[in-house]
Amino acid sequence: MLGRVNHIAIAVPDLAVATAAYRDTLGAAVSQPQALPEHGVTVVFVELPNTKVELLQPLGQTSPIAAFLEKNPSGGMHHICYEVEDIILARDRLVKAGARVLGDGQPKTGAHGKPVLFLHPKDFFGTLIELEQA
Ligand code: CO
Repeated sequence: MLGRVNHIAIAVPDLAVATAAYRDTLGAAVSQPQALPEHGVTVVFVELPNTKVELLQPLGQTSPIAAFLEKNPSGGMHHICYEVEDIILARDRLVKAGARVLGDGQPKTGAHGKPVLFLHPKDFFGTLIELEQA
């Protein structure tokens, strides 16, 4: 069911500092920051030859990553995103297997304009999983 790793997301307290670390210290290609108010984050994409890293900073008062940064003040790995061919088939299979889909269970449009779902981290060894229809 799972395809490629689409991206790995890291929550950071200061996007400018994190951008500089990836661009200048690690020598990676880094995008301009993009505000995604509907997701409560500002994101920078680190383009790697085989995948992307997304650096996420909270945006607004109700950001879904604010609580994560309270627990991890210096930042940390927030989720991993796997590609699936058909997100509805994937969801139905997971629900049948007892996995918990976050929210109302309906796919939302993700940062790349594709349908995404999130799976409860307690069902997958402490890691929040995002599924994106490729
Ligand atoms: Co993501």
